[in-house]
Amino acid sequence: MLSRMIQLLKLCSFLALIYELACADPLNDPPDELCSSTSIYTAGSPFENNLKADLFLSLSSNSSFKKFYNTSFGNDPDGVYGLYMCFNYVNGSNCQSCVSLATTDIVKLYPNSKEAFVGEEPCQFRYSNQNFFGQLDVTGNIPKQNEENISEPQLFKGVVNNVLSNLAKEAAFDPLANMSATREEPFKDDTIYALVQCGTDLSENQCNSCLQKAISDIQKCCSFSVGARLFSRNCYLRYEFYNFYKASPSSTKNMNGESSVRKIWMIIILTVVPVCLVVVLIAIVYWLAMNNKSKKRKKEIATQGSIFHTVHDQHNADFQHQNFQGRNDLQDQELPYFDFASISAATDNFSDSNKLGEGGFGTVYKGILSDGKQVAVKRLSGCSEQGSTEFTTEVLLIKKVQHKNLVRLLGFCIDREEKLLIYEYMPNSSLDFSLFDANRREQLNWSKQINIIIGIARGLLYLHEDSQLRIIHMDLKPSNVLLDNDMNPKILDFGMARIIEGNEHEANTARIVGTYGYMAPEYTMNGLYSIKSDVYSFGVLLLEIITGIRNTGFHQSKHAPSLLAYAWKLWNEGKYWS
Ligand SMILES: *[C@@H]1O[C@H](CO)[C@@H](O)[C@H](O)[C@H]1NC(C)=O
Ligand SMILES: *[C@@H]1O[C@H](CO)[C@@H](O)[C@H](O)[C@H]1NC(C)=O
Ligand SMILES: *[C@@H]1O[C@H](CO)[C@@H](O)[C@H](O)[C@H]1NC(C)=O
Ligand SMILES: *[C@@H]1O[C@H](CO)[C@@H](O)[C@H](O)[C@H]1NC(C)=O
Ligand SMILES: *[C@@H]1O[C@H](CO)[C@@H](O)[C@H](O)[C@H]1NC(C)=O
Repeated sequence: MLSRMIQLLKLCSFLALIYELACADPLNDPPDELCSSTSIYTAGSPFENNLKADLFLSLSSNSSFKKFYNTSFGNDPDGVYGLYMCFNYVNGSNCQSCVSLATTDIVKLYPNSKEAFVGEEPCQFRYSNQNFFGQLDVTGNIPKQNEENISEPQLFKGVVNNVLSNLAKEAAFDPLANMSATREEPFKDDTIYALVQCGTDLSENQCNSCLQKAISDIQKCCSFSVGARLFSRNCYLRYEFYNFYKASPSSTKNMNGESSVRKIWMIIILTVVPVCLVVVLIAIVYWLAMNNKSKKRKKEIATQGSIFHTVHDQHNADFQHQNFQGRNDLQDQELPYFDFASISAATDNFSDSNKLGEGGFGTVYKGILSDGKQVAVKRLSGCSEQGSTEFTTEVLLIKKVQHKNLVRLLGFCIDREEKLLIYEYMPNSSLDFSLFDANRREQLNWSKQINIIIGIARGLLYLHEDSQLRIIHMDLKPSNVLLDNDMNPKILDFGMARIIEGNEHEANTARIVGTYGYMAPEYTMNGLYSIKSDVYSFGVLLLEIITGIRNTGFHQSKHAPSLLAYAWKLWNEGKYWS
C-alpha cells in the first residue's frame, strides 16, 4: 500500500513539475516574471555558479548551527543573494536537512529562475539576483489550512486573531523574543498552539507589518479551519490544536523518512493541483485506515495538516468528542454575534453614567440596543491575559445551560483587544447592593430572602445535577447573583466554572482562582474542588443573606475574625438562635 502511495505521489510530483514549468505558480508575483527572459539564467553562467556552488553550500552548512542566515556571492549582474529561516522550534540537524532539501527542491521547482522562494516544514528558503535583505515584501503569501472545520468559527476567529496579534507584537517589539514567539491559549477543552516568526534581517516595524499582513491573509482564507499556517517571504505563522512546535516530527518516521516523499510534500504545498491532492488524500485516508486496523484503534483524520504532520495527531479525533457538541440540537446554534460599534453605541461609548459595577475581570455597563431592548454588557479588560480564558469558558458554557435562576447570555463580541459579553438586563442589580446597603436591605423582607435563597439553591442544583454537564461555578458570591424585577435571583459569571467529566466527583487544579472568603479551604490549600466547593460558598452566602453582614468585612474582634468563625463559635456553644 505504502509503495503504491509513493508511486502516486511521484506521479503527482511529475504533474506538479509540468505545472510549474507552465509558469502558473501562485508564489511568483507577478507569476509571468518567471518566464520572462530577464529572470532566467543560462546554464553554465557565472550566476549559476554563484548560486549552486557558493550560495547553496554556504547556506546549508551554516544551517546546522544558525536558525536564520543571509549571505551573498558575486557582484552585479551575476551576484546572488540568499537566505533561509528555520522555524524556531527545530534543532540544528533538522534545520540543516530542511535547508539542504530546499536547495534541491528550489532548483527543480524553478529551473534557471533568477529568483525563487519555497516554504517547507520546518524552514523557508529564498534567493534572488537583487539584494532583498532587510526589505519587506508581503506579496504572494501562501496560506495553508487544516481541512477540519471548527465548530464555533466566529468565536474561534476572534480568539485566534487576538492571540496572533499579541504574538506579533511580542515577536516584533520584545527584544528578548528574537523575532519569534509562541503561545498556548485555552479554547473549550482544548489548547490553541500558535507560533509567529520573522526573518531577523527585518526591523521591528517591518516584522510587525509582515505578521499583520499574514494574520489578515490567514483570516481571510482559513477562519473556518481548526488550524492553519502561512508562508510569507519575510515571516511565518501557524496555529493548531496540537503542539506542533514541541512534537517530534513523527510524520517522517511514519513515512519511512524517505526524502523523496518529503520533497513531494513540499511540491504539494507549493503547487495548486487539486485533482492530485484529492488522489493523495484518498490514498492517505486509505493507508491510515489499513494502518489502524492492525494497530490500536486510533481515530485519525486525514487533513492536509496530517500530510505534512504527525499522522498520530490524536487531537483532531478527540476534538469531536471533547467539545460539547451534539448533545442538544437547539444548543448547537451559534450564539448571536454583536459588532463592536453597535454595543459601543448602545452603552453611549461605555460612559461612566452607564456603569453598573465591576465584575470579575471586567466592568459591567447598561446598554440600550437599537431596537430598544435593555442589556447588560460586560467588557473584559483588554490587557488581562487571564480574562480571555474566562471569556471563552463563559461563552461556551453559558449557552449550554438555561435555567430561570441563571442569567441568560444574549450574545458576545470579540474585536481585537475588546471582548464583550451581552446579558439580559436585571433592573435590581446584584445581590450585594440589596444586602449590604442599609436602605435597600430594609426592603429585603424575610419572604424575599427565602425566595432568593431557594432560587440560588435551585440554580446551583441545576448546574450540579440537572444540566447536561456537571458544572461547578467556583465563584459564587453576592455580586455574582443578580435580581430581576420580582427579586428572583439569577446566577452570573461562569468565567471560572469547571466541568466535571462523567463519573468523576472530585478534581484537582494548580490554578486557584475565586474570591477570598467564599472559597472552600481544601480548594485554597490543595486545589481540590468538587460540587462541595460551591456548597461551601453557598453556605457563606446564606449566612450573609440572613445577617446582612459581609463575611470578610466582619471585623468585630470581640466575637471572631470572620462571620463564618463567629457562626461556628455560636454553633459550638449551642446558641443557634441568638
Ligand atoms: C557560513 O557562510 C559564510 C559565508 O557567508 C561562509 O564563509 C562560512 O564558511 C559558512 N560557515 C560554515 C560553517 O560553513
Ligand atoms: C544580512 O542582511 C543584513 C541586513 O540587511 C545585512 O546587514 C548583512 O550584511 C547581511 N549579511 C550578509 C553576510 O550579507
Ligand atoms: C467547512 O466549511 C466550509 C465553509 O463553511 C464548507 O464549504 C466545507 O464544506 C466544510 N468542510 C467540512 C469538511 O465540513
Ligand atoms: C535570544 O537570543 C539570545 C542570543 O542569541 C539568547 O541568549 C536568548 O536566549 C534568546 N531568547 C529567546 C527567547 O530565545
Ligand atoms: C534533533 O531532533 C530530532 C527529532 O526531532 C532528533 O532525532 C535528533 O537527534 C535531534 N538532533 C540533535 C542534534 O539534537
